[in-house]
Amino acid sequence: MWHWRTRPRTIAALLPRHSRHPPSQRPSIASALEPLYNLPPRKHSMAETIRVGIIGAGWPGTAHAKGYQAAGGFKVVAVADLIPSRRKALRDELGIAREYASADELLAGEPLEAVSVCLPTHLHAPVACSALRAGRHVMCEKPPALDAAEARQMHNAAVKAGKVLMYALQRRFGPAEQAARMAIDKGYVGEAYHARAVWTRTRGIPRGTGWFTHKEKSGGGALIDIGVHMLDIAWNLLGQPRPASAFGITHSRFRSLLADDATYDVEDAAFALLRFDGGKSIELAATWAINQPPTQNGTVCRIYGTSGAIEVYTPAGPVLYRDFAADGTCRQNPLKTPRLAGHAALMRHFRDCIHGKATPSAGAAQGVTLMQMIDGIYRSSRSGKSVKL
Ligand SMILES: NC(=O)c1ccc[n+]([C@@H]2O[C@H](COP(=O)([O-])OP(=O)(O)OC[C@H]3O[C@@H](n4cnc5c(N)ncnc54)[C@H](O)[C@@H]3O)[C@@H](O)[C@H]2O)c1
Repeated sequence: MWHWRTRPRTIAALLPRHSRHPPSQRPSIASALEPLYNLPPRKHSMAETIRVGIIGAGWPGTAHAKGYQAAGGFKVVAVADLIPSRRKALRDELGIAREYASADELLAGEPLEAVSVCLPTHLHAPVACSALRAGRHVMCEKPPALDAAEARQMHNAAVKAGKVLMYALQRRFGPAEQAARMAIDKGYVGEAYHARAVWTRTRGIPRGTGWFTHKEKSGGGALIDIGVHMLDIAWNLLGQPRPASAFGITHSRFRSLLADDATYDVEDAAFALLRFDGGKSIELAATWAINQPPTQNGTVCRIYGTSGAIEVYTPAGPVLYRDFAADGTCRQNPLKTPRLAGHAALMRHFRDCIHGKATPSAGAAQGVTLMQMIDGIYRSSRSGKSVKL
């Protein structure tokens, strides 16, 4: 799976950066090779197996449960949802032992090591904090919270409990995104200093169980819902620089697309420019609805560096541009992608963090910074001015 030019030469080079730990905490060679060579999950002893409960059985709850099964080392033992048919469907599909009618009932009723919080955004902070206080590790859906103040409460609860809090920013663990990360780490683009990150939908206002368009429950619209993924990917690929300022504008123009009288007090489009310490920058665009042909729907992520660039999403996979001539012509190298990706890779990382073999890459602290950037864009849009972060 490795290209001959990029094949790592040592076992140390195979280990993700965050897992280069002191010898006593180093992962075994077998577990380091497991994701890279797509080996079947290592057998875990009963004592090592992490019992996990899924709270919220919509699309993300199902994706988490399948991710745990694919990652190995977890046993999904319970599911909770207010809607009986949803929890039953997930239980039947994956053979989950028990079901509960609410988050509170699951937290009170199950001896678990970890939970996935896959609930509407206004419930992330309260449910994640009570799970952490009850001694559970938490994988919480994106966006981290309604705002940075809530994300800080969650961070503090995780620190106080001494438990892992991670966010389900699974796109960061996508095959193209991981390949881009590896190429940047190897210095192929020089210093990565600017990113263009875009997710536009022509007509794609999410409804869920009715809360997505209600600011009190969602925190906002397209920016906090899908912009958060693109912002996270770009920020991570630039090396997680410290945000300095944000300038942004949001629009709410497509209320008429909803057939019912649901609350619609959020934006359906957001555009922003973020500056970071050290002079790095991100331009971000996210739309749930905009007048563009549906053929223009989708994601763009371009990383620009001092000696090269990466286009993360192309029909042929991620591409590295380098060896630029004076007239701008350059060589194009397709990047090899790892096979273990998405929720399976996310959950494997969660497992390694729980076992103390890795530090969360999309953890409690990163959640606070992401929400500070999002809050800043909303503040800037309201004031019409650039705001300090
Ligand atoms: N990572 C991703 O790519 C991705 C994709 C979609 C949604 N999400 C996120 O996942 C979360 C949930 O989104 P969704 O699309 O599933 O929403 P949804 O409205 O479809 O589902 C939410 C579920 O939570 C259940 N629920 C609400 N309160 C509950 C409680 N107290 N106890 C138990 N269950 C309860 C509801 O019955 C419902 O089934 C949101 O934060 C959303 O942003 C992430």
